Amino acid sequence: MYLGLDLGTSGVKAMLIDDEQRIIGSASGALDVSRPHPGWSEQDPADWIRATEQALDALKAAHPDALAAVRGIGLSGQMHGATLLDKHDAALRPCILWNDTRSFRQAAALDSDPQFRALTGNIVFPGFTAPKLAWVRENEPEIFAEVRWILLPKDYLRLWLTGEHMSEMSDSAGTSWLDTGKRKWSESLLAATQLDERQMPDLVEGTDSAGTLCPELASRWGMGSGVVVAGGAGDNAASACGMGTVGEGQAFVSLGTSGVLFAANARYLPNPESAVHAFCHALPNTWHQMGVILSATDALNWHSGVTGRSAGELTGELGDTLNSPGSVTFLPYLSGERTPHNDAAIRGAFVGLGHESSRAALTQAVLEGVSFAIRDSLEALRAAGTRLTRVTAIGGGSRSRYWLKSIATALDLPVDLPADGDFGAAFGAARLGLIAATGANPVATCFAPATAETIAPETSLVSAYEDAYQRYRRLYPAIKEATL
Ligand code: XUL
Repeated sequence: MYLGLDLGTSGVKAMLIDDEQRIIGSASGALDVSRPHPGWSEQDPADWIRATEQALDALKAAHPDALAAVRGIGLSGQMHGATLLDKHDAALRPCILWNDTRSFRQAAALDSDPQFRALTGNIVFPGFTAPKLAWVRENEPEIFAEVRWILLPKDYLRLWLTGEHMSEMSDSAGTSWLDTGKRKWSESLLAATQLDERQMPDLVEGTDSAGTLCPELASRWGMGSGVVVAGGAGDNAASACGMGTVGEGQAFVSLGTSGVLFAANARYLPNPESAVHAFCHALPNTWHQMGVILSATDALNWHSGVTGRSAGELTGELGDTLNSPGSVTFLPYLSGERTPHNDAAIRGAFVGLGHESSRAALTQAVLEGVSFAIRDSLEALRAAGTRLTRVTAIGGGSRSRYWLKSIATALDLPVDLPADGDFGAAFGAARLGLIAATGANPVATCFAPATAETIAPETSLVSAYEDAYQRYRRLYPAIKEATL
C-alpha cells in the first residue's frame, strides 16, 4: 500500500493505493484561509497538521488494515508558500500563501535584477516565495532575524512526519531561489534576498526517498518501521504524475479555481518574457512549462454569485451546441493575471453589452473569456518552444461540455476526457511514494488514464473564434490604459 497526501489550499486529501495502483480509499480534512488585510492570504501551519491528522484518522477508521500496510508516502502541496521557522522548528508567523499579493513591490524589485530571470527561468511573481521574504525583512525585521528555516507547505508536513528538513525540485522551482536548469539552490539569488543556503532544506528528486516516517506516527496509524517518505512534488507536478503528463508533448488543461495549461518537457525551456512558468518536473531530468490564469471556475462562480444562479444552471442554459462568439467579450482578470500579463492590478471587464445581452449571453462570454485566457497560455507555451497536438481536461470546469467545446475550438486542439477516476495531486503523490519505496520505473509508473472521449474543435466556428480571440487580445492594453 502507498499513501498520497495533498496539502491543498482548502483542505488536505489523503489517498491510499495498492501495488496495482487501485484506489483503496481517500479522506480529507478542511482548511480555511485567513485574509486579515486586502491582498493577504495566510494559514497557520499547525492547521495543516490538524487537517492531516483528521484525514488520516478517517482513513484509519475506514481502512485500518490497508493503512497499516503502507510502505511509501508521497507528498504534494500548494506551491510557493513561505513557512518560516526558528531554530527550534517553531513557526514564526502564519504561512504567507501562493495567492497572497502583498509583496508585489518587492517582486518587481527582485524581477528587475536580471539574475533572477536568468537563473530561475521565471518572472519573480508576487505569489512566489522570495518576494515574501523581502516583504518580511522590510516589514517584520524582528521575525526575519529569527528565520532559521524556510520551508514550502508540504515540506513543513514532511518535517512533522520525518523530522527532516528536505524538499524536492518541482516545488523549489517556484521559490525564485532555484537554479532551475541545474536543479540546485542558487547562492547568489539567496544572497540577493539576504539569505543563504543553510536556511534552505536539502534537495532530492520527487521520486527519491526524503526520510522515513517517525516511529510515533507510524504506531499511531498502525504502520511498521521504515516507511519511506518520497520527495513528492508541488501540486501541479503531482497532478501531472497522476495524469501521466510526464513525457514530451503531453499536456493537460486544468479548470479549477485557477486555470493551468501544463506541458511536460524533456528539456529545460524557459521563456519568462511570455510569463510562462518553467519549473522542474517531479521526475529526474524532466522539466515542465505552465501557463497559469488566476480565475477559471472562479470567474463562473463570480457570475453565479452576481446572478443568483448556480454554475450548473448557468451553463445548462447554453445547451450543448457551441454558439459563435457574440458581441459581448469578458476579460477574466478578477484578481489580476499571471500568464501572459504578470499584472496584479488589472481587473476584469464585460465589453460590448447591449439591450439584447441576456444572462445566457453573459455566461457564454464568461466561458469564452476563460477559453481565450487559456489560448493566451497556449501562445505563451508556443513562444517558449512547445508544440501541443492535444490536451487532456481535468478539474471541476470540465463537467461543462459547452466549456470543453469552447476550449477545444479556442485552442483548435482536440481535448481528451479521462475515463472516470481520481487522477489528481493526491494520486500523483501516492505514485511518487510507490516509486520511492519500490524503485519502480518512474515513467512506467506514471502512465496516463484511458481516454473516455475526445472533444474535437467545432471546425465551422474555428475562424469566428479566432476573430473573437483577436478582439479579446486587443482589450487588455485598452482596459489597462483606461483604468489605471
Ligand atoms: C502554481 C500556483 C497554484 C498553486 C495552487 O504556480 O500558484 O497552482 O500551486 O495550489
